[in-house]
Amino acid sequence: MAEGRRLLVAGNWKMNGTRAMVAEFAAGLEAVSGVHLVVVPPSIYLADMALAFEDSSIGFGAQDVHTQTSGAFTGDIAAQMVADIGAQWTIVGHSERRAYHSETDEVVADKLLAALEAGLEPMVCLGESLVQREAGEAEATVGRQLRRIAERVGAAKLSQAVIAYEPIWAIGTGVTATPEQADDMHRVIRDVLDELGVPSGSTTVLYGGSVNADNAADIFAGENIDGALVGGASLKSDSFMAIARALAAAKHA
Ligand code: 13P
Repeated sequence: MAEGRRLLVAGNWKMNGTRAMVAEFAAGLEAVSGVHLVVVPPSIYLADMALAFEDSSIGFGAQDVHTQTSGAFTGDIAAQMVADIGAQWTIVGHSERRAYHSETDEVVADKLLAALEAGLEPMVCLGESLVQREAGEAEATVGRQLRRIAERVGAAKLSQAVIAYEPIWAIGTGVTATPEQADDMHRVIRDVLDELGVPSGSTTVLYGGSVNADNAADIFAGENIDGALVGGASLKSDSFMAIARALAAAKHA
């Protein structure tokens, strides 16, 4: 499952999109050499994605999965169901899930385990709030999130996840972390991973937060950054492609 450190651009559509948009993406996306592309639409469109991307190297996945495999959880979706439809990926622990659905690091850890159990590749989101950053607690916050998750899942499982650093203050605000801030935080994440016994040299770590076609190259210049988890700019196939090409160019893929 875990293939080591990879170049990856994932597009989190959040609660946006239509079936027509799935078709538009199927026509508009093309493989970028050396870069893994993943589209993450609302779960209701995963079946359409499975058909539209049947013969494609472009991956797709869910924005969330439940901790349990089945049961009386109205409105929820199990990781097995996401895998059953043909998806390869899921996001877990996005800050919007943490904020609006009260997900703790423990829940996020259990979702990570559920995803792996189903054979999905989890992208685990970490990130500090503006208050935490301004208080000088960004590094401690992200380190704590990572340690709590590691405590529950163990290093072997954590090493199978992709990590996405998404500072909450940069999400959907048009304010990106500066390339230095982003690379520094990615370095911190890699240091914590190493300390936890997860080889950071083989872990993919993405940046997320107002990445777009104009700022992607600057962000990808950071040596600790392997790609991006993109929100708003992933809703148009041309800007999503431009970000993927910027990654290939920055890393000479
Ligand atoms: P934006 O790119 O819209 O800031 O969203 C980032 C994000 O939350 C991706 O998961």
